[in-house]
Amino acid sequence: MSDAPTKFLLSERDVPTHWVNLLPDLPGEPLPPLNPQTKQPAGPEDLTPIFPMGLIGQEVSPEPLVEIPPEVREAYKLWRPTPLFRARRLERALDTPAHLYYKYEGGSPAGSHKPNTAVPQAFENAREGIRKLVTETGAGQWGSALAFACGLFGLECEVFMVGSSYDQKPYRRSMMQTWGATVHRSPSSETQAGRSQAEHATGSLGIAISEAVEVAAGDERANYALGSVLNHVLLHQTVIGQEAMAQMEMAGEEPDVVVGCVGGGSNFAGIAFPFVRRVLRGEASTRFVAAEPAACPTLTRGAYRYDFGDTVGMTPLMPMYTLGHDFVPPPVHAGGLRYHGDAPMLCGLVKEGLVEARAYRQNETFEAALRFARTEGVIPAPEPAHAIRAVLEEAEAAKQAGEERVILLNLCGHGHFDLAAYDAYLAGQLEDPEFSEADMQAALERLPDDVPAIA
Ligand SMILES: Cc1ncc(COP(=O)(O)O)c(C=O)c1O
Repeated sequence: MSDAPTKFLLSERDVPTHWVNLLPDLPGEPLPPLNPQTKQPAGPEDLTPIFPMGLIGQEVSPEPLVEIPPEVREAYKLWRPTPLFRARRLERALDTPAHLYYKYEGGSPAGSHKPNTAVPQAFENAREGIRKLVTETGAGQWGSALAFACGLFGLECEVFMVGSSYDQKPYRRSMMQTWGATVHRSPSSETQAGRSQAEHATGSLGIAISEAVEVAAGDERANYALGSVLNHVLLHQTVIGQEAMAQMEMAGEEPDVVVGCVGGGSNFAGIAFPFVRRVLRGEASTRFVAAEPAACPTLTRGAYRYDFGDTVGMTPLMPMYTLGHDFVPPPVHAGGLRYHGDAPMLCGLVKEGLVEARAYRQNETFEAALRFARTEGVIPAPEPAHAIRAVLEEAEAAKQAGEERVILLNLCGHGHFDLAAYDAYLAGQLEDPEFSEADMQAALERLPDDVPAIA
């Protein structure tokens, strides 16, 4: 048996004490979100109807580090620190000189990185006397995470689940109900927003967000919770990158490239931002690769503009790469990547050229996922399968260059509830929808035009 370690483990004492806030290190002044009615910069008062002050404070915090409340650290110990693996079997199968590492977030109760933010969100809401959280879910991962977290802090939980995922993944619904949540198929007849979008039967994250915001805004005991995109969500996910940094040190290596998939940007930010900060401070020259679906290519094809976060225009406008707030992406199996925009902080880094974005089709991502499953064992969720595809490309590039490059992947969730998608791939029945030029033109025409242009 070889002495070469396969996994790098931290102890519970090593759960980070702070989250990393990249905001103060970003070049230039951050562009503010805009009030959806007045189109003027939105202040904390625009957010109080649906978010607690604790999270609003984190959203706009100028501090480089934000302390993690002890109650949240205690709950994190249920699954954190998560392991870092060296993918030696995959390296051998690819015959690459690259060293491949993956941080595995699939061991959390919900099976992904989403509880990293669900727990602090539920905690801050419960602390301020809120009784119920309402949310949307795409892949079902976020809804499950919030259902679990609400249970920890005695909150009710109501989830609007994107129609196509609701149909593809019935057991995600069962999981949410097991943790005590109420789940609706979106678009639903529960809300004005849902009724107005009834013709889009497969649903979209944008529609489900509109439904959840409507319910939360109409009930003073309830707040809304978002599983991605916002600054505070990205902040919470930085426990991933901080742990990975300590584990890479244990391995005696520094990543040359950090790779993650992007739906709204939270798992990517989680692994990348602590490393990005080093680059911004001139302490490292790490590259960053963000992988997204060709069917919903926000970072690679979207317009950099102010747009609404939801379909019917109830949320603040955010500066981001967008495909248009009413774009309904094809029902690809990576449900968590079917969002029309992306986190403003991540979009800014792509705009500055600090993060490189790449788009992949469904079949090539499942091909990569199978390679991974058949060497490393873990069956990845369809979302990180996009990042695995990018890792395979990076490993091949290292081989061509004859260089021992170090590649760090965020394997942000398992695919145990996505086996219908694997079945479809194995049966050769997966389609490869792609965003067309006509889609792009239509999206540009629908973007709000009474907002400031951004360079
Ligand atoms: C497993 C998994 N990965 C990735 C994502 C994409 O979200 P984000 O970009 O915020 O990490 C989701 C969203 O639901 C998900 O469930």
